Amino acid sequence: MKLFLRGTPNKKQKLFFVSRARHTAYGGARGGGKSWAMRRKFVLLALRYEGLKLLLLRRTLAELRENHTLALQAELAGLVHYIDRERAFIFPNGSRLKLGYCDSESDVLQYQGQEYDVIGLEEATHFTEYQRDFLTTCNRSVRGNFKPRMYYTGNPGGVGHGWFKRLFIDRQYRGAEQAGDYVFIPARVYDNSVLIKANPEYVRSLENLPHVLRRAHLDGDWDVFAGQFFPEFSREAHVIPPTEIPKEWLRFRSMDYGMDMTACYWWAVAREGYEPAGRDKANMPAGSCFIYRELYEPRLTLSKAAQRILELTASDENIRYTVASPDLWSNRQESGTGGVVIMAKEGLTGLVKAVSGRVNGWRMLREYLAENDDNAPKLRIFANCVNAVRTLPLLQHDRLRVEDAASEPHEVTHAPEAIRYGVMSRPLMPRASEEPQGFYTPSEREDFKLTGKFEIRKIR
Ligand SMILES: Nc1ncnc2c1ncn2[C@@H]1O[C@H](COP(=O)(O)OP(=O)(O)OP(=O)(O)O)[C@@H](O)[C@H]1O
Ligand SMILES: [Mg+2]
Repeated sequence: MKLFLRGTPNKKQKLFFVSRARHTAYGGARGGGKSWAMRRKFVLLALRYEGLKLLLLRRTLAELRENHTLALQAELAGLVHYIDRERAFIFPNGSRLKLGYCDSESDVLQYQGQEYDVIGLEEATHFTEYQRDFLTTCNRSVRGNFKPRMYYTGNPGGVGHGWFKRLFIDRQYRGAEQAGDYVFIPARVYDNSVLIKANPEYVRSLENLPHVLRRAHLDGDWDVFAGQFFPEFSREAHVIPPTEIPKEWLRFRSMDYGMDMTACYWWAVAREGYEPAGRDKANMPAGSCFIYRELYEPRLTLSKAAQRILELTASDENIRYTVASPDLWSNRQESGTGGVVIMAKEGLTGLVKAVSGRVNGWRMLREYLAENDDNAPKLRIFANCVNAVRTLPLLQHDRLRVEDAASEPHEVTHAPEAIRYGVMSRPLMPRASEEPQGFYTPSEREDFKLTGKFEIRKIR
């Protein structure tokens, strides 16, 4: 068979071609030649090994057709047989390259029980963690001469940003995952000399993007991405090493209870005039908060969650209140009792119902994260609260209600929700002529005017 494949791979594409790791990702900035490399790699593999089974996926059918089906059909026409009904290319040596998609979460089940020697996820960050995990189980090989592999391409952003970043950028591994199985090749548009020559204005358009988008699309910076809900969050500004907290500071907890995950945070409110040491020398604004401890545990019953929270609290820690999700006040089906009652029986008393307006809550959290002229935000998080630090930057905008955070991926919402309840229990003082709006009933607003200490009234 004579197949004339045009183009010479650039340096990064070559690295992608030669990688035989269990998982190889090629990602980052736009336009580096990732999709080209993925297509070419799959054709080369199909030609190299007889009877190889390959699956190349994009999240939606339309994207698949636009990005790969048409390009492969043009490239392989006349030499490789394409079966439209199955969206599969059959090579003369028996190799089979199937093109697929996983539009909805459950679409992935169509691959159940199937075996592929090689699986490719194009725009991998558009796939959910569940989909990616499921596809990994289909990546098996019964051939002696070939170890199963997965290839990924992608840009920062999308529902899969979290798992992609954990595996390939942060390199934090869980359970049976092994660091040596994961290879990452960073992509830059400047690698792609073909595109730069043919389309120099494309590179200029990336260079002229607004700051946050530019960091993601031109620099391939995985700490920011389009659609990110809290681009103002940064490790530099908001995360500090754990330090001693003065005993007399007001402390409280905030909690988002759920059977899938219980997230609880311990807070300390800085006394006015407090000057932290070191690089935080700038005087922190009055009422600044520190989140100093985290409980982040799945599958806790209400009683067990209450016990864990109490276990983690030292006996001399003077916790004034624990603000919690409002659903704890409604009666549970199984027991007919509210969650607060079950928790109180374990000794976790002083629960306060969180103010539930989501959009106002997120706005308040944004106020806390905003830096003042001294570069001092009003919220700092101790580095030991690893899930808060990990998930706050992963939260995304809801697609329809953009002022709200998306509920997907669900895993990244628990810590931010708990933190939202925390800030809403301590709304920042209204500026001169403003009075608190929206999230209070009229009588609560009256109280605020009288005392200026809404949160204290709530807890007494
Ligand atoms: N080695 C190469 N030889 C010839 N053309 C190439 C090569 N690499 C990439 N190209 C061409 O450059 C253009 C951009 O490449 P490609 O679409 O693969 O980039 P990408 O990184 O997937 O971009 P995006 O981030 O937008 O998905 C395409 O027209 C592609 O065909
Ligand atoms: Mg692409």
